[in-house]
Amino acid sequence: MIDRSTPPMKSLYQQLILDHYRNPRNRGELDDRTVEIHMRNPTCGDEIKLQLRIEDDRIADLKFLGDGCSISQASVSMMTTILKGRSLDDAHQVSRRFTEMMHGDEDAARDSELGNLRTLAGVAKFPVRIKCALLGFDALQEAMKKSRGEHDHPTESER
Ligand code: FES
Repeated sequence: MIDRSTPPMKSLYQQLILDHYRNPRNRGELDDRTVEIHMRNPTCGDEIKLQLRIEDDRIADLKFLGDGCSISQASVSMMTTILKGRSLDDAHQVSRRFTEMMHGDEDAARDSELGNLRTLAGVAKFPVRIKCALLGFDALQEAMKKSRGEHDHPTESER
């Protein structure tokens, strides 16, 4: 669904991004996880570990651990709040739309499916930071592949 209201992004480091960076949601270990992916941004060495419990083609729960810049940590924190309880199809759709937004798609930047993630739309203007914003989604894509038995790397992924 397209929300035609004014894009919420006012500055790169707006309050919501800083709030998720300082108070990350769903941070920690997920004891009953069914899949785990370790993803590192090779350009800076920052990394995250994403853990999901997938049940009946649904993300029943997910958590992450990691160190990184405010963009990467806020992005993955927002991602977890949006995807908890959602179907894998929904997760693919959110991931696709977020990636489109990071590549400058203005319709994606107004898509209400992305929720608070739309506050990261301004990152698209800073090419070196796009990888930061996509780090959590790269981990998500690998986790969903791994859960389908398509994963190339047994324990760790790197992009
Ligand atoms: Fe490393 Fe952003 S600078 S993930």
